[in-house]
Amino acid sequence: MGKTIYTLAIESSCDETAVAVLENGRKVLSNVIFSQIDIHKSFGGVVPEVASRNHLDKISEVIDEAIRTSGVSLGDIDHLAVTYGPGLVGALLVGLSTAKALAYALDIPLIPVNHIEGHIAANYIAHPDLKPPFVCLIVSGGHSHLVDVVDYTTFNVIGRTRDDAAGEAFDKVARTLGLGYPGGPVVDRLSKEGNPKAVAFPMAMMTEDHLDFSFSGLKSAVLNHLNSVKMKGEAIVVADVCASFQAALIGALKGKTELAIKRTGHKTLVLAGGVAANSALREALATIEGVTLYHPPLSLCTDNAAMIGAAGYYRWLAGTRGDLYVNAVPNLKIGD
Ligand code: KG4
Ligand code: ZN
Repeated sequence: MGKTIYTLAIESSCDETAVAVLENGRKVLSNVIFSQIDIHKSFGGVVPEVASRNHLDKISEVIDEAIRTSGVSLGDIDHLAVTYGPGLVGALLVGLSTAKALAYALDIPLIPVNHIEGHIAANYIAHPDLKPPFVCLIVSGGHSHLVDVVDYTTFNVIGRTRDDAAGEAFDKVARTLGLGYPGGPVVDRLSKEGNPKAVAFPMAMMTEDHLDFSFSGLKSAVLNHLNSVKMKGEAIVVADVCASFQAALIGALKGKTELAIKRTGHKTLVLAGGVAANSALREALATIEGVTLYHPPLSLCTDNAAMIGAAGYYRWLAGTRGDLYVNAVPNLKIGD
């Protein structure tokens, strides 16, 4: 048995101030999240400046709590993993500056982590038997990708959205329907009471021979439908619109995921990101034959620091090291 490695992880890329402590990369000792969702709700979405200020307000408290509840002391920590992109620049800088200061004071390595790699790594925490290679469908508020995960630190993006991310489509449709922010969980719930065949929304790019997605046409189709129903003076059946929109979006995700599996030949399919919490998406992907499906538990789907710690641990094993000059990269791509 080698030495036990303790990772302290910090995530502040959007509207969650999160800190976690992990043992040997896959065991979570503490995972503290201060969510700003309630603060941003009144604005109908995340306000960057408000997010940065709240991260600044909360970060020290969240670090203290993560250390206190982990059972280890700050002096036991071996390295610090921190999200440096993609995300809101001001929000990222709060976590990154804090991580740099701590790494410097404790004299331990700083491991810059790509937030999207973190979403993938959430699955390593939940499934001790999971290892690459696999196909990963990452669907969150800011990203929609199909990735060939070759090993723990090698990612080939084989498909991506050409416009909106899947979660963004959920949020925009929900906002138009007056369902509040974030939209995904509400649309997911209401869809259960609606008829997915009520409105025939388009499934974009399905006939084409590539692995990219497009959701802006679907979003516009929903808006057009709502306008035309209103013009006719008819009532909008919110549950039906939700169910039909969700069915079209999931149909596109499933179709491209099947193609990705066929092309790569991988036998394992992994779901990641905030939209991975969607119950209908999970059910649809579970019907794909010839692959074992993994997804994180709900608590690890949306932003958290435990997933950043897991990704950071594998980056650390692979030799990735940051220094005090690492900057936030708001549009960081996976595989960079
Ligand atoms: O991964 P995440 O926490 O943040 C980003 O990195 O973007 O994802 C947040 C997104 C939001 O768009 C939210 O509406 C969506 O995930 N989401 C869902 C569900 N739960 C969260 N979308 C569909 N169904 C859900 N149950
Ligand atoms: Zn995220």
